[in-house]
Amino acid sequence: MKMIVAIIRPIGINPLKEALCAANIKGMTISEVRGFGRQLGKKEIFRGVEYLVEYVPNLQVEILVKDSDVERVVDLILKATKTGETGDGKIFIHPVDDVVRIRTGERGEGAI
Ligand SMILES: Nc1ncnc2c1ncn2[C@@H]1O[C@H](COP(=O)(O)OP(=O)(O)OP(=O)(O)O)[C@@H](O)[C@H]1O
Ligand SMILES: [Mg+2]
Repeated sequence: MKMIVAIIRPIGINPLKEALCAANIKGMTISEVRGFGRQLGKKEIFRGVEYLVEYVPNLQVEILVKDSDVERVVDLILKATKTGETGDGKIFIHPVDDVVRIRTGERGEGAI
């Protein structure tokens, strides 16, 4: 199993959720995060004055999938969230040893 952790623009969350549900991927965790990438933040203009947003707000989406679903889900994330502009985000893929579905006690892929 893999935990797919995607940092995405907030606007991408609804298209992503719809794409995942349509692909029968059930379950995700989202959180509000802030950070920076290669541009070290983002320039914005407020009342005509340019300033730097040092820690850009984004959403972090965590999706646990079986190994055979990783590429499919990464493709869905790209299709749903890519704009081609800087700041589109990043996807991290971590190995996961086990998962427990608390209600049933199921373990491993069957618990996803
Ligand atoms: N190396 C990193 N480690 C941890 N988080 C990162 C890393 N790079 C980016 N992030 C997170 O992802 C968010 C979006 O990053 P971003 O898309 O700007 O990456 P980038 O490498 O600068 O790519 P681009 O040049 O397309 O903007 C950042 O605000 C930060 O929260
Ligand atoms: Mg960037």
